[in-house]
Formats: sequence, structure tokens, C-alpha cells
Amino acid sequence: MERFYVTTPIYYVNDVPHIGHTYTTLAADTIARWKRLAGADVFFLTGTDEHGVNIERKAREAGLSPQEWVDQIAPQWQALWKRLGISNDDFIRTTEPRHIRVAQDLFQRAYDRGAIYKGTYEGWYCPACEAFYAEDELVPLAGGAGDGWACPIHKRPVEWTAEENYLFRLSEYRDWILRKIEQEPEFIQPETQRNEMLSLVRGGLRDLAVSRLSVKWGIPVPFDPAQTIYVWVEALINYVTAIGYLDDPDRFGRFWPGVHHLVGKDINRFHSVIWPCFLQAVGLLAPKQVWAHGFWTVEGEKMSKTRGNFIDPIAEITRLAEASGAEWAVAADAFRYTLLREVPFGQDGDYSHGALVHRFNADLANDFGNLLNRTVPLVERHFGGQIPAPAPSEGPDGALQRAAVEVVAAADARIGTFDFTRGLAEIWRFLGAANKYIDEAAPWAALKAGNTARAGAILYNTLEAVRIATILLAPVLPAATQRVWDQLGIPTPLAAARLDDARKWGALPAGVRIRPGPPLFPRIETPSAPTPAGRASASRGAGRGRDASRDTLIPANGAARGGTEMSEITIEEFKRIDLRVAEVLEAKRVAGTDKLLELRIKIGEGTRTLVAGIADEYAPERLVGRKIVVVANLQPRRLRGVESQGMLLAANDGDRAVLLAPDRDVPSGARVS
Ligand code: MSP
Repeated sequence: MERFYVTTPIYYVNDVPHIGHTYTTLAADTIARWKRLAGADVFFLTGTDEHGVNIERKAREAGLSPQEWVDQIAPQWQALWKRLGISNDDFIRTTEPRHIRVAQDLFQRAYDRGAIYKGTYEGWYCPACEAFYAEDELVPLAGGAGDGWACPIHKRPVEWTAEENYLFRLSEYRDWILRKIEQEPEFIQPETQRNEMLSLVRGGLRDLAVSRLSVKWGIPVPFDPAQTIYVWVEALINYVTAIGYLDDPDRFGRFWPGVHHLVGKDINRFHSVIWPCFLQAVGLLAPKQVWAHGFWTVEGEKMSKTRGNFIDPIAEITRLAEASGAEWAVAADAFRYTLLREVPFGQDGDYSHGALVHRFNADLANDFGNLLNRTVPLVERHFGGQIPAPAPSEGPDGALQRAAVEVVAAADARIGTFDFTRGLAEIWRFLGAANKYIDEAAPWAALKAGNTARAGAILYNTLEAVRIATILLAPVLPAATQRVWDQLGIPTPLAAARLDDARKWGALPAGVRIRPGPPLFPRIETPSAPTPAGRASASRGAGRGRDASRDTLIPANGAARGGTEMSEITIEEFKRIDLRVAEVLEAKRVAGTDKLLELRIKIGEGTRTLVAGIADEYAPERLVGRKIVVVANLQPRRLRGVESQGMLLAANDGDRAVLLAPDRDVPSGARVS
């Protein structure tokens, strides 16, 4: 039996979870579920990293002791994973006694073996990373005076730090780790990250400071308690603590070293260089694989606190659930699916809510959900709600069966090796084949012709394809597939299904009572791009057609936009428009005209003036305090002597302008996309 141990990084308890953290955990959960499906003996670990100066500082800011602080934050991470349906087997906290014991044991062991010695370490230190950087890794400090240098990750100033502490003889392992990376291409994935590590190691490795005198919130060095163990070395040790390095040798033997560490690329070097060398020094084997995935940006921008563009996964899922009416857990599945499908694992990706809505509508509602919607009502109406009997294959049946056999192997080859994007594409190819099958085989035509047996066989085949797809999708859409399984009425639980069950064409039990439910993925109706017909009517100047996307921009001078033809634009072109939520601070009429209002608005921290042609509909006093949506990067224009620095958005209801406003309160400055 294959044994499979997968880990996420342990997350710092000084941060709020965002899409980047969630991504690693969702990917780890998906592979853990996939391997269980394939019949492997799986252990899936996540947890929290609770020591170090940053956490000490956060606690101080909150007026708490570090222990009180971590005890408050760690459960929030656990709750997040529970809410997202994460199937981890353990959750480790580095402040737990089991971890403190192992960290001290291994540190002592490294010292006893001569791999750790006392010395003075000097170098450029980034407090945010809790790591030293070599000079050539630093970047110039933005806005800094001349010779300022910053850490390549946080772009914050590095500090020249000299301290007497213990050093790990990393340099002595340089040849060993270089050979390992060269000889084992699978050890570091993807290839780009492997190459980065190769060049890093080829450039030489310096001994590493592995204790801190100045950091009090940490695990004491066992042979010199005035010092604490460097938080990064200590944190890495969690991976062996949790599987019982000291207290469960059987389990440790089962899962070590067959581990796959999933990490973001920023922390790759800790996992694929420092960690294996440290393990080698204490006489343990190196991890089997380190998978360093890419970074998410949001609508083209790096996520940062100052930009306020952190994607909160819970808010994002809630937004989808509210817009669609889907169950929250199903919306969470859609979020997971989108992240894994959109960007090949290992590459950087850009997140947008639009992509989530698109994947929900096109892939989940149209391709997957619809397959059920097209079959279940026919089974209800013509077969008394019982799954009809299969029949010897004819016509297009054979092609569907072949596709079913192929998809299981293809998906396993991809998803089982972390290629989620292509694995999902394979499954979607199969869903496409099933949709095509029902179109071609046309059960409704067989029913019309009185050939009930053939209609039944077609419906059986389609539902059998749904069963197989449902098993394959269970690791990616755990909640939604459970609902589909319930609707199919299959008596054995989905959780007990294995890949082998997906390989058995014809395992769907005939005669079982199906249990139709509400649509799983209710489509989100978005104001879509104009249809060709809509465009034509617009170009004739028909005024208020059905085309909601036309005429929504009210120029600042109040002249309603004419019925000009709207051509399609690319997403990049759209992204050039900076739409923001703004708060109206003041409003007054513009002298000499009864159409225009002059608004003083607040966008984030800044204020500006805007002129809008909405005086007919809105009395100035009604606007103060309201949140509106504006185009923030429009070239300023003078209107009746007043400079308008932007344009507000309104819908055109005949001749009336109707202001657009957020559905619920959001801070001014929030991006609209
Ligand atoms: N505590 C350390 C890990 C110790 S593991 C022994 C840590 N924690 S973290 O909370 O800062 O980051 C956790 C993970 O989130 C890292 O893998 C990091 O790469 C990932 N991400 C943080 N921002 C990210 C994106 N914008 N995009 C994708 N992943 C990102 O580091």
C-alpha cells in the first residue's frame, strides 16, 4: 500500500489568513483526498508557527502575553480549516510540549554530533522573515536614502546584526545537497524552483545561525538556555514531531521520509536546502519531495496591507454563495476548484472574482450540474424515479465507455502528481463527452418513438458517467459531490468510494430510487457583454434595450451616452479602468445649470471633486454620506468652471439616472471589478 505524507507550511499566528495561505492548504487537502481515493495510507498535517520576534511584537501590541496571543489566534486558523472542510489528520502548534521536546532533542543531537558550534554571526537580517540574507540577495530600498537595502520578500529595511550564537555547519553539506538536487529531479518541483535552488547551492552555502540571544519567545537551547532555537529550524522540526518522531516510532517509520512538503516559493530554500541538511546532520533521511508553488496577485497587483487588497477566502466564498444562492460549502468548492484549475501548480497566478464567477457558471453549472439536470427529470417522469436498467451498448455508447476508462487513468496520472490543472481538464473533457453523448443519443427522441428501453439505457449511461465523474471530483468538490451522490441515491457512502470503483463501468445500481434536489450550482446572472442583437439595437440608437451593460456610465457633464456601438474589449483593457467605492462628503448645485451637482468625495484616504449630471434625480442633501461607485482614473475635465476629477456610475432608466451603490457597506476606496 502506498504511504503518502503531505504537509502545509505551519502558518504564522501574526497574520490574517488570505488566499495565499488558503491555496497551499486547499492543494494539500486535494492531494490528500486524492491519495485516499487511490487507496493510499495518508497522513495530512497542517498547523501554526507560534514562536519568534514577530509574534512577540504582535502580542505586545495587543496588550497580551505571547502565550495568550497564540492561544487566541491558533483556534482561528483551526476554525478556518474546519469551515473550508479541510481533512487534516493533525494540527500541530509549535508551543505544544510534544514539539518542544522534539525540537530540543534534535538540536541537542546536532550539537552532540558536532554539527552545531558556538560562534559570532554577522549579517543582514530581515525581522519580518526572521532570516539572514546574503548581500547579493538584497534589493534597493524603495524611497530609501541612497544606500538603503531591503529584504527581497518584504522590501523592508534589513538590519546589520551581529550576535554571539550557535551556528550550524551548513557549508559542510553543500556538496551533499548539490548532488542530491542534481541526481533526484523529482526532489524539488517545479523545474524552475529546482533550478533556483541549484544556482543558490552552487553559489556556496554559509554556516547558519541557529540560535538567538535576543529572542526570548522561543524554545530554549537545551545546553545553553540563555539562547532560543532559531525559529525557522524549530518550525521545520514540526514535520517530524507530528508523526511521532519521539513518541510513536511505528508511525514515524510508516511516514518518514515519504513526505511531500507543499510550500510557497518564498520559503522553498528553507525546505529544500536547510531542512534536508539539518536532517542529514542528525542522522535522519531527507524529505522525499518539496513542491514550491507560485504566488497569487490580485487583479494584477501584489497583495499588501497598504493596498488593502488581501483576498479573504471566507468573504469571497460568501459573496459567491450570496450571488448564486448556492449552499456555502458548495461555493467553497467552487473557490477551491477555481484556484486549482486556473493556474498550473507551481506558476504564479492572478486572482479575480470574475474568474470565480465564470468557472462557477461555465464549468460547474453548465458542464457538471447540467448533466444531472438533464437526466434526473426524465428519470422522474418516465421511470418512476428509479435508475433505469442498462442494455448492451450501441451507437455512441462505446465511445462514452472508452472515455470513462481513459479519464480515470489520465486524472490519476495528473492529479496524483500535483498537476491539478491538467487533471481537471481531463475530467472536464470527460464531462464534455457525456454532454455530447446525451445530445447525440437523444433519450427524448427514443421516448417519443416509444423506445423506452433505449431511453432508459441512455439515461443509465449518462448517470453512470455522472457517478464516475463524481468519484473523481470528490477530492476537489467534497461538498458538491456529496450532494450529487445523494441525488443519485447510491446506497454506499461516497466517502467509501475508491478510484477502483470509478474504473468499473456499470457499477451504478439500476432500480435505485433517485432523490432529486435543488440545483447545486444556480447560475449567477451577470450583466453580460451585449449580444449581437443587443449591439445592433444599440447602434440603431434604440435607447433602452435589454442590454444592461450599455449606457451605465453617466459622464460627469451629465450628457447621457448616446447609442453608440460598443465593441468588445479585452480584460486587460477593462483592468485599465480604476473603479472605486467612494463616499460623498458634500454635495451642492453647480451655478448656472440645473443639471449638474458638484460632489466632494472621499476615496480611501484622499478626497476629490466630481461633477455629475444627476441634479434632476438627486437633491444634494440626499447624497451626503452615501457610498457610490466612481471611475477614479479618468482624466480631469472642467465643467462650468469646476474641475471634475472622475465620473460616477449610474444606471440609465429611461431618462432617469439611478446611482449604483454597493450592496452592503464597504470602505471607501474599495476596488470595484
Ligand atoms: N511560518 C512560516 C512557514 C514555516 S513552515 C516550517 C511561514 N508562514 S506564513 O504564514 O507566512 O506563510 C505560509 C505560506 O503562505 C507560505 O507557503 C507562503 O509562501 C504562502 N503565501 C503567502 N503569500 C502568498 C501569496 N500571495 N500567494 C501564494 N502563497 C503565498 O512562512
